[in-house]
Amino acid sequence: MKPFFCASHAAFLPLLLLVSLACLQATAQTVPASNRQLASKELNDRVEALLSKMTIEEKIGQLVQYSPGTGHAPPGSKLTYDELVANGQVGSFLYVVSRDKINHYQHIAMERSRLKIPLIFGMDVIHGHRTIFPVPLGLAASWDPAVPEAVARMSAVEARADGISWVFSPMVDIARDPRWGRITESNGEDPYLGSAMARAWVKGYQQDDLSKPDSVAVSVKHFAAYGAVVAGREYNAVDMSEIMLRQVYLEPYRAAVEAGAATVMSAYVSVNGVPASANPFLLTQVLRKEWGFNGFVVSDEGAVAGLRNHGIGADADTVARKALEAGVDMEMDGTLYSTHLLSQVRSGKIPESVVNEAVRRILRVKFALGLFERPYAVEAPAYDATPDRRAAARKVADETFVLLKNDPAGNMGKLLPLTDKIGKVALIGLLADSQREMVDATAGTGDPKFVITLRKALSDRLGNRLLYAEGCGLLSGKDANVLKQIYLNTDHPSPAAELPLPDDAMTIAAAVETAKQADVVIMALGESAYWMETEAESRTRLGFTGSQEQLLEAVVATGKPVILVVVSGRPLELTWAADHLPAILEAWSPGMEAGPALTDVLFGDVDPSGKLPASLPRYVGQEPLYYAQLPTGEPAHGDLSHMPRNSAERFMSRYVDEENAALFPFGWGLSYTNFSYGQPTIDRSEVPLREVADSEHKPVVTVGVDVKNTGSVVGTEVVQLYLRNTVASVEQPVRELKGFARVTLAPGEHKQIKFPLGFDELSFYNVELKRVVEPTTYKIWVGSSSLATKETRLKVTE
Ligand code: BGC
Repeated sequence: MKPFFCASHAAFLPLLLLVSLACLQATAQTVPASNRQLASKELNDRVEALLSKMTIEEKIGQLVQYSPGTGHAPPGSKLTYDELVANGQVGSFLYVVSRDKINHYQHIAMERSRLKIPLIFGMDVIHGHRTIFPVPLGLAASWDPAVPEAVARMSAVEARADGISWVFSPMVDIARDPRWGRITESNGEDPYLGSAMARAWVKGYQQDDLSKPDSVAVSVKHFAAYGAVVAGREYNAVDMSEIMLRQVYLEPYRAAVEAGAATVMSAYVSVNGVPASANPFLLTQVLRKEWGFNGFVVSDEGAVAGLRNHGIGADADTVARKALEAGVDMEMDGTLYSTHLLSQVRSGKIPESVVNEAVRRILRVKFALGLFERPYAVEAPAYDATPDRRAAARKVADETFVLLKNDPAGNMGKLLPLTDKIGKVALIGLLADSQREMVDATAGTGDPKFVITLRKALSDRLGNRLLYAEGCGLLSGKDANVLKQIYLNTDHPSPAAELPLPDDAMTIAAAVETAKQADVVIMALGESAYWMETEAESRTRLGFTGSQEQLLEAVVATGKPVILVVVSGRPLELTWAADHLPAILEAWSPGMEAGPALTDVLFGDVDPSGKLPASLPRYVGQEPLYYAQLPTGEPAHGDLSHMPRNSAERFMSRYVDEENAALFPFGWGLSYTNFSYGQPTIDRSEVPLREVADSEHKPVVTVGVDVKNTGSVVGTEVVQLYLRNTVASVEQPVRELKGFARVTLAPGEHKQIKFPLGFDELSFYNVELKRVVEPTTYKIWVGSSSLATKETRLKVTE
C-alpha cells in the first residue's frame, strides 16, 4: 500500500506504523461517507443484526456471484443453482433476463434459505435496457449531462421492471486511444467532460435514493484506468505516473463515487504493476480511505481467476485472498471465492473480520435498494417500443450527431441540410439498412427488430425518390479473415455468421450505377458495431471495415455530390473522406431511432449540436492522440504538413511524415448556423493564492463571454472554456477543458455565458500528490472547440 501523506523511515518503522495508522484512521474519519443512505444508522443496525446470525458459509455465500444461464450448476460444484440459493451459498446472479427466472431464484432465496437474504440481480445495461439509445461515446458527444441522465432514468425503469436492480454501468474509463474497442462505451478522452457525464449517469440510475422502486444501483467501471492499456490492446497492462493517474484517469470515478455510486467494478488490467482486482492502493487507499466509498466492489467478470495469469500468486488460495484483502467484496461470475476462502478463514489465514466487512458492504446495498421488502419482479406487460420510448430515443440521438464538415459542393452550395424539394437521393451502405448493426454487442436486451434504419426513415420521407444500394460487406474485403473467424468460431449463430463472403466487386459496381442515377448521394459507412467495437475488439487499423473505403472512392469518382454519414463506435480515420467530400456527419452507433434521428438532422429539422468527445486522428500512428498534451522542451510550431526541410523544422516534437494535429479536434462540431464569440472577460484579473486555496468548491472568479447566432436558423452551440496553467512545479497540459455550456439561440440572438472558476478548476497534483494551487498565470480561452483562440488571463498572486 502507498504511504499516505506521512513520511516514512525504516529505522522508525514500528513507531511510524502507529503514526501512519493514526494518520490513516484520522483520514478515514474525516472523509465523509460517499453515500449517505448506505451510512444511515438504521440501515447499518439491520446489517449488523443480520450479520450476527450468519454462519461463515452464509457470509462467503454473499460474496459469490454466478451466471446461471449457461448450465445447471457452477463449474466444479455438485449442487444445482437452486440448491446453492437455498443453502445461502450465493449472493448474486448476473445475466438473468427473464422475470420468471428471476422470481424463481428469488422465491427460493426468500422462502427456502435460512436467513431469507434476497439475491441481487446484476446486468450490463450500457446504453439502454430494452429501449436502445446511442452508444455512450455518442451520448458524450451531446456534451449535455441531461442526456445520459435521461438515458439512465429510462434504463433504470425498464431494468427494474425486469427484476434487475443493479446495472454494470456507467463505464467512466478515460479513453484516449481508439484502437481500444471499448472507447465506444466511454465518455471519451477528457476528465472534465467525463466527470460531468459520470455524475449524470449515477444520478439518472440512482436518483439520489436507492430505495425508490425504480432506482437501480450502479457499478462504476472499470476501476481503474482500463482505458489506458498499452498500445490500445485489450486487457493489456497500464503503466503511468501517479500524477497522471490521479489528475486524469481517476477523476471520473471520483466524480461518480461522490455522486453516491453504490458499487464499483474492479478492472481486469494491472495498474503500475499491481492488478486492479488485487490492488490495495486503488481499492482501499484511494477508493475507501481517500474518497470515503461505502458501497461494495465487485470484480470484473472472471478477473479474480485472471489474477493467476498476472503472476501475483502461485495458487488459487493466494489470489482469492489477495483480491479479498485488497478490497474486492464480490467475485463476479467465478468460483474462487466460493471454493478458496472458507478453508483460509478456518485456518486463520484470512481474518473473519475481512469477510464480515465485505458482507456488510453488500448487505447495505441490498437493504438500501429495498430488496428485503420488494424482492420480486412485478408483473408487467411485455416490452414494446411505444411512441414515448421512441420519442425519447430520438430526442437523445438528435443531440449526439457531430457535423464534421459542411463545405459548399460546387454550384450546389452546402449539401446539408437537405430540402424536401431534393430530387433523387442514392443511399449507399449496409449500415443504412441493418437493424442488427444499430444495436451493437453492448446493447444487452435491446431487440434489433425495434430499430428504424436510415433507409426506412428516408424512404418514408422521400418515397420513390430514394434509391438504395448495399455497396459492400462490412467484414469482407480486407476484413474477410474476421468474418471467416466469426463463421468458424462463434458459439452463437448469428446472421453474419451464416453469410457467405459477399462479392464486393459486383456490389460496388452496382452501387456506382445507383449513384449515377441520383442528384445527391448519402453514404453510410463505418465499422461493424457488432463485431468490431466494444470489449475484446481492439483494432490496429482505424479505417472503414471491409471494402468500404474502395466503395467510397468508387462512388466519389462518379462526380456526384456525396454526403458521408459515419456509423462507428470509435474515432475512425476519415482522412481521405475529409479531403474529397464536402459533407461529413459523425453518427456514432445511434440505436433504435437511428433512422428518424438522422433524418431530423440531415433535413435540418434539428440543428446538429454534437461536439467530439475524442479527437479524430489523421492516421492511427498518431494514437494515443488527445488535445490535453503535456508540453515538451521542443514544441512543434509552424507548418507541419510537409517533411522537415532543415534542422530547424526537424528538431521539434513532430512526425516527419504527418501533422501532429487531429483531423478533427476534441470539441469540434459544426451547426447549420454560425456563432460569433465576443472577447472573453474576467471579473477579477488577479486573485491571491490563499483565497483560491481556501475557496473549497466555491468559485473565486467568473469568466464571461457573449455568444451570438449570426446565421439564419435557430442553432445550439456548446460553448467551451479551456485553460493553461503557464507556470507550475509540475508541468501542466497545454490546454484543459474546465467549463462548457449548451446554449440555443434564435437568429440574431445573443447571450452572455458565464463560467465560474475556483480551486477545483485551477488546482493540480504536485509531486507530493497533493492537489494544490501555486502562484501562476492562467491563459483562458473560450470558443467552440479545443482550438478556441479568444483569450483572457488570470493571475494568482503570492
Ligand atoms: C466486462 C464488464 C461487464 C462484465 C459483465 C466484462 O467482461 O468487462 O464491463 O460489466 O463483463 O458482463
